[in-house]
Amino acid sequence: MRKRLVAGNWKMNKTPSETKAFIQEIAPLLADADCDVAFCVPAVDIIPAVEAAKGSVIGIGAENMYFEEKGAFTGEIAANMLVDAGAKYVVLGHSERREYFGETDEGVNKKAIKAIAHGLIPIICCGESLTQREQGITLDWIRKQIRIAYFGIPAEDAVKTVIAYEPIWAIGTGKVATTGQAQEVCGAIRELMTELYSAETAESLRILYGGSVAPANAKELFAQPDIDGGLVGGASLKLDFVKVVKPE
Ligand code: PGA
Repeated sequence: MRKRLVAGNWKMNKTPSETKAFIQEIAPLLADADCDVAFCVPAVDIIPAVEAAKGSVIGIGAENMYFEEKGAFTGEIAANMLVDAGAKYVVLGHSERREYFGETDEGVNKKAIKAIAHGLIPIICCGESLTQREQGITLDWIRKQIRIAYFGIPAEDAVKTVIAYEPIWAIGTGKVATTGQAQEVCGAIRELMTELYSAETAESLRILYGGSVAPANAKELFAQPDIDGGLVGGASLKLDFVKVVKPE
């Protein structure tokens, strides 16, 4: 049985002191959550977030990392640094990183391999643009992204990963995918994992939906058979996130 994961993606929001205050405030409200809860935060917020989350159900993650072990890569952060800082998760290949920072499926693949090697749980993002959806190529596009992201990753490592399906047109727009659209793609991703690995691997892997997840739509989305939780941007910055984790 897959345990649901609801992960916040703070993007470029909150300073270290804001992070500390927010996590301290929200942690007791999440104490009885019946799923895994995470906040993926800016690099400088990881250490204060980990400290503030100590003893709570909250796991902390990063929003990116580099695929090399160490060395002359000014401005980059290595997997072992994240681990040493106390991070458990790392978001990889978010559409904003692909759009603004030139990330590619091949880079995501290298990062995923390195993250797994260091014991981090990669949250591997995929998603189509509005044009691609209108052109009817959504599933082909997602399959391509996932195939490349998992290239060379054996089944025993693939099960340790999380996939986040985030239609780009639904991110930060308030335009959530219908539950039918979200389930269709998450179901297709699970089918692809069956094809690439096995039914057993596909059944144990968690697939999240992301894109304007909010207290009002979380319950219905998370009730879909192939949606195992959410990657939540805007709504994870406020105490209302509790209502996404524990939808009424
Ligand atoms: P949103 O962002 O919830 O603000 O739409 C989701 C994401 O980009 O992970």
